[in-house]
Amino acid sequence: MNEPEKNRIVRTVASTQSEMTEIILPNDTNTLGNLLGGRLMHFIDLTGAMAAYRHSRTHVVTAAMDHIDFIRPVRLGDLLTLKSSVNRAFTSSMEVGVKVWAENTRTGGVVHVASAYLVFVAVDEQGRLQTIPALQPETPDEIRRHADALRRREHRERESARRHHERLATAPPDATLQTKP
Ligand SMILES: CC(C)(COP(=O)(O)OP(=O)(O)OC[C@H]1O[C@@H](n2cnc3c(N)ncnc32)[C@H](O)[C@@H]1OP(=O)(O)O)[C@@H](O)C(=O)NCCC(=O)NCCS
Repeated sequence: MNEPEKNRIVRTVASTQSEMTEIILPNDTNTLGNLLGGRLMHFIDLTGAMAAYRHSRTHVVTAAMDHIDFIRPVRLGDLLTLKSSVNRAFTSSMEVGVKVWAENTRTGGVVHVASAYLVFVAVDEQGRLQTIPALQPETPDEIRRHADALRRREHRERESARRHHERLATAPPDATLQTKP
């Protein structure tokens, strides 16, 4: 282990755990009275950022939000609860998992409605990358999520490279010539 690695602060997953509860109001819903997908993504982004702030204790920006499945609709008047924690810290980036449940206020029934993984990057006020503390997974679930987060990072990097090559392959032969009069 090199010197900077040895001196790096270490935080637990528990210290990053965050939670938000919202009541779904008419302004959050579509014409069928269901929560709008974009509004749900906004809540997911906010709750994910809370965990990232608690881990990094600096500014963070959202670099990526992975595929989200909207498993069940959320209805007007439901209570929406979102929970997040950091799965793995890399150098300046961290993967955060967010899980979402809806509670029917009359029956008390609670259902899982969505899950997502996001990547946040720590930056200073000038937008320069910041090295974040290391993360120490402790429980069996945390250790599993920590290992899975590395596989997802590798998958994101492969996908990003593939999209880059695709863009190059479909670009006009000399894009700069196209802008000339
Ligand atoms: C995210 C951002 C800061 C990365 O800056 P960059 O100069 O491209 O940085 P690098 O390529 O050196 O990558 C820095 C880190 O970000 C990660 N990263 C960058 N782009 C990423 C992406 N699309 N998905 C996942 N991770 C990403 C890298 O893996 C790297 O992580 P590491 O330091 O832990 O190894 C920059 O792309 C940015 O500012 N994007 C806009 C963010 C934004 O406006 N979000 C919405 C509002 S908050």
